[in-house]
Formats: sequence, structure tokens, C-alpha cells
Amino acid sequence: MSLIRFYCSYSLLLFFLFLCSISAIPTQVNGDSTTKTMEDFSGYPIHEPSHSFSPTFLPSSLSVDAQTLQNQIDELSTFSDTPAPSVTRVLYTEKDVLARRYIKNLLGLSGLSVREDAVGNIFGRWDGSEPELTAVATGSHIDAIPYSGKYDGVVGVLGAIEAINVLKRSGFKPKRSLEVILFTSEEPTRFGISCLGSRLLSGSEALAEALKTTVDSQNISFLKAARSAGYAKDQDDLSSVFLEKGSYSAFVELHIEQGPILEAEGLPIGIVTAIAAPASIKVDFEGNGGHAGAVLMPNRNDAGLAAAELALAVEKHVLDSGSIDTVGTVGILELHPGAINSIPSKSHLEIDTRDIDEKRRNNVIEKIQQSAMTIAKNRGVKLSEFKIINQDPPALSDKSVIEAMEAASKELNLTHKLMISRAYHDSLFMARISPMGMLFIPCYKGYSHKPEEYASSQDIANGVKVLALTLAKLSLS
Ligand code: GLV
Ligand code: MN
Ligand code: MN
Repeated sequence: MSLIRFYCSYSLLLFFLFLCSISAIPTQVNGDSTTKTMEDFSGYPIHEPSHSFSPTFLPSSLSVDAQTLQNQIDELSTFSDTPAPSVTRVLYTEKDVLARRYIKNLLGLSGLSVREDAVGNIFGRWDGSEPELTAVATGSHIDAIPYSGKYDGVVGVLGAIEAINVLKRSGFKPKRSLEVILFTSEEPTRFGISCLGSRLLSGSEALAEALKTTVDSQNISFLKAARSAGYAKDQDDLSSVFLEKGSYSAFVELHIEQGPILEAEGLPIGIVTAIAAPASIKVDFEGNGGHAGAVLMPNRNDAGLAAAELALAVEKHVLDSGSIDTVGTVGILELHPGAINSIPSKSHLEIDTRDIDEKRRNNVIEKIQQSAMTIAKNRGVKLSEFKIINQDPPALSDKSVIEAMEAASKELNLTHKLMISRAYHDSLFMARISPMGMLFIPCYKGYSHKPEEYASSQDIANGVKVLALTLAKLSLS
């Protein structure tokens, strides 16, 4: 009995010494002021030691076919409605359908079994040795906002397929199945709804209901558009898309940073601890319009000027928040009838505002609404719509996924930084049904959502390698 007690105490002592030795390993120290903010926001101390995962094969056996991957990125970018180098690929258009076909073909070539749901989320599955266990998933989107670049989202889809190829070539055999997901319409371009596919997957009843009556700017209904692309065949109820909470044991998304930090600091990998809270709002003003020469200034109620004043108010409220993390953008401003000699009788704005602090972001939304009402009153126009389209909370990455990504980066000798994602991603919604994590790679000057967006083949290959090793670890856990 006392011998057993001795062995227990001895093992505890050894374990304690082992822990001490781990925490004594110097970690990268980031002395800048964002560190604290990041800790506050994400809840993860950035210097916490990570667990080690037992490697079952050598990271050196992972080799990325960077040239083929680059060729695929280039080829996919040709499915665009605007000339190169810009890319425009909008949900359920002909180019989107062709691009989806291209991806489905690659999924098949990688030996994955492919399925699609009613809105066109596409899943490619590699069965693990224990297929009854919940799978590990990875993926992103391939839709592209007007006049954007060829890397946003695409790196996380083509890169995910290449990560599977990397693992297959290395001889790896997954225990949990691995799935690649192409999410439908991460961008809100056509129907004004961001992360449409992942939002539905995560079980949004409100969205499933709204999509029954949602139309685009040409008055084409969501369901008609989906059917034209071969989806939502004989169902108006899209709740079939919902996935149960816990459907995946982990979800990891690879993405370009869309910000300048990694490039500026010369770091190959960013590990996302949290995704900022996005919101979007649609506003309509209506006035009497009239002749631009004949109606004198005191007699006007110009819906266009109401919109202009509200756009400036958005900027003011965002700046007044006092935090650099609060942002606001009026990316759409339309005037009706849109003639130089006609006073605008209608105006339409779409406002995007985000923050890492949800309360502060909500406060800005309230102030914007107050301003819209005051401006309408003062200018004698009607505020015919003030609609909050989405007002999402932030999402935190899961500790176990962060640890897997950190361990993978370390084993591959790729230095990493823990960071916040200011852009939203499908991961924001996958976090509702699965432990989530994101990998960032550097992109040129942080450019994104414009044709100059660029990530080097080397940086992409690094990201794919870390993704592959992360998936391998999570698949065995
Ligand atoms: C995603 O495209 C975003 O706007 O953050
Ligand atoms: Mn985007
Ligand atoms: Mn994206």
C-alpha cells in the first residue's frame, strides 16, 4: 500500500517537474498594446503553454504541390463576371455554378465523397478508420464580391483540398473522418445576407424563414435563384440544411489575413483567437423629389441629402466610440431616380459596422438609428425603413483547436502569432456547432476585397501544411 502511495507521489512529482519545464520554455513575447486587448477579447492568455500531440508521422513527410495549387487558384479566378485581375463571382450566377463544378471535380479527384445540401453548401468527405466518430471539417467560400481578388475564401477551399492531398500522399490514415466544406455565399452581395450557408448550417430558424421571401435587387427570389443553380429543388423549407450542435469535433478555416500584420512582422502564420462582431443595416429615406431647377431650396425634402447626412453620422458615431476597434462603412448608397436634374425622391443605404466589443458595437447601432430618425424629422423626409439585417455576436476559437494549430506550426518550424480576425468568416457560425479555429497567412499589404489582393505561393503552401498537420492531429484526437 505504502509502495503504491510512494509511486503515486513520485509520478506526481515527475509530472509537476515536466509541467515546470514546459512553462520554462521561452515563448514569443509580444509587448505591444494589442496583446492585452487580445487577451481580454479572446479570453486566451497568449503565453499559455500548449499541449503536445503525439506525432504519428513525420511533419517532414508533408509536401504541398504549390504549383498545382497556384494553377488552380488562377484557373478558378477566370470564372468571373469582371475582367482580370478583378474577380466578381456572385451567388448562383452562371460563373458561380461553373466554379462550383470545378471544385466538385477536384473533390472527386481527391477521392472524397461529395454531397450538397439544399442551398449548395458542398461537402467532400474522406472516411476515417472510425467513421462513426464525429468528423473534423475545414473549408471556406468561393464567392467573390464585385471587383475583388482571387484569394479571399478560395485559399481556404482549394487549400483544404490540397491539405487532404498532402495527407494522402504522406500515407496518413485519419481516425475521425475529414471533411472539406465549400460554404454558400459568405459574401452578402446578392441577397444582403452574409455567411448565408454557414448561418443556415448553424441552425438559424430566422434565416430559414426569411429566405422564403427574400429577393435580390432584381426582384428575383432566393428560392428561384437557388433552383436555377440546381438547389432547393422541391422544398421551400430550408431547415433541412441545419446541422446539429456537435456535428463536427472541430472546424478549421484557412484564410488570407486581409490585414497587414503578418506581412509587416514577417510571420508566416496567424492563429485566430476570436472573430469580431459584425452587423449590417439597411436604411431607406423618401422625399417628394422634383425638378432640380424649379424647386427652390427651402421647399425641398431631399432624400439624397438625408442619406449623405446619415453616412457622415455613421462615421461620427464610430469615431466617438473612442476605440480603434470600432469600424463603420456605408458601402452602398443609391439615389432614385438617379438623374442629374432631379431631386432624389428615394435613397437607400447599407451600413456595415463591427467591433471586437459587442456592447460598444450595439451602442453605435443605437446612435445610428437615433440619427436616422432625427435627420428624417429635420429634413421632412420619411424614414421608410431602418432594418438591422444581422447583429451577430463575436465568436471565440476553441482552446483545443488553437492548441492543435500551435503545435502544428511549431512542429513545422513556422512561427505564428495569436491574433483577432476583424473580418468575418464562415467560422463565426461554425463556432456555434463545433469547436472552431482559424489559420491566417500573410497577404500583400493586407489588401483584400480589391483586385490587388495577393498571397505568395510560399505563404499559401505554409498555410496548407499547417492546416494538413492540424487536421491530422484533430483527426486522431
Ligand atoms: C467578409 O468578407 C467580410 O466582409 O468580413
Ligand atoms: Mn470577403
Ligand atoms: Mn473570406
